Amino acid sequence: MITRRHHLAVLAAATVAAGSALAQSDTVKIGVILPMTGQQASTGKQIDAAIKLWLAQNGNKVAGKKVEVIVKDDAGVADTSRRLAQELVVNDKVVALAGFGLTPIALATAPIATQSKTPMVVMAAATSSITEASPYIVRTSFTLPQAAVAMGEWAPKNGIKKVVTLVADYGPGNDAEKYFADRMQLNGAQVLEKLRTPLRAPDFAPVLQKARDAKPDAIFVFLPSGQGAQFMKQFAERGLDKAGIKLIATGDVTDDDQLADMGDVALGVVNAHHYSAAHPSAMNKKFVAEFQALNKFRPNFMAMGGWDGMRVIVNALNTTK
Ligand code: DHB
Repeated sequence: MITRRHHLAVLAAATVAAGSALAQSDTVKIGVILPMTGQQASTGKQIDAAIKLWLAQNGNKVAGKKVEVIVKDDAGVADTSRRLAQELVVNDKVVALAGFGLTPIALATAPIATQSKTPMVVMAAATSSITEASPYIVRTSFTLPQAAVAMGEWAPKNGIKKVVTLVADYGPGNDAEKYFADRMQLNGAQVLEKLRTPLRAPDFAPVLQKARDAKPDAIFVFLPSGQGAQFMKQFAERGLDKAGIKLIATGDVTDDDQLADMGDVALGVVNAHHYSAAHPSAMNKKFVAEFQALNKFRPNFMAMGGWDGMRVIVNALNTTK
């Protein structure tokens, strides 16, 4: 309790100091915390590239001041993210925190945003409850129910009456499983089995065998960005495609960052998502072309969340001066 009170006092003092430092300084700092290394490194790479693209397109001035983006690597570890957020608020006096590649990270850092009254822009993490973790949070990514309900609506109307679900065993997986299964059942379909794999270092072989044995029409899958290619490889190796089991998913699995390396197993997969690099709007075509002019990889939905998040932060700073 003493530690916590001390911690609150430090943050409160820092916030007052940040206010006066900001008024005097000709630079505004934005603290971006991302998994640049570790299992979720593709999320960090995508968002970092998108932020750089946004600055290249729009310049780094806001309300007459220079924007400085400080990127910190949390390696996908919640305790690290929380500590980095504290340092960014207290030492660097950032005006906003942004990034957050995984749900546990966003949830662990939310109290820092609340205690220091620092806006926190969640560009990636997608469990629906995250925006309720602090009144200072706004999100520019998505929620799993948005994608899962669309699949649960589509599948029974397209001949899929019996399914097995497979999700990563944490917040967004719980959301995907629940909202997909509820919508399937509402539409008269049957969920034969609900399977889960751990977030860290998952092995898909045993669950794919179980899914195959259940003889469903389809398997519905959610895995966080970065795990899709390995999953698809094992899906084909275990012969589920040959057994006539259709693969339906959220777009996290057929991630644009990895899609080109997945091979023919990806053909015929049906997913629902809020973003695709192939979306043919003029705005997205421009986004993809300019992103690829700066990077050797294709933008995915994480890049979109990072680009939108940067826009939200800079617009807010312009509005509030
Ligand atoms: C989360 C992470 C992802 O990489 C993703 O694709 C969806 C959700 C998350 O941890 O919230």
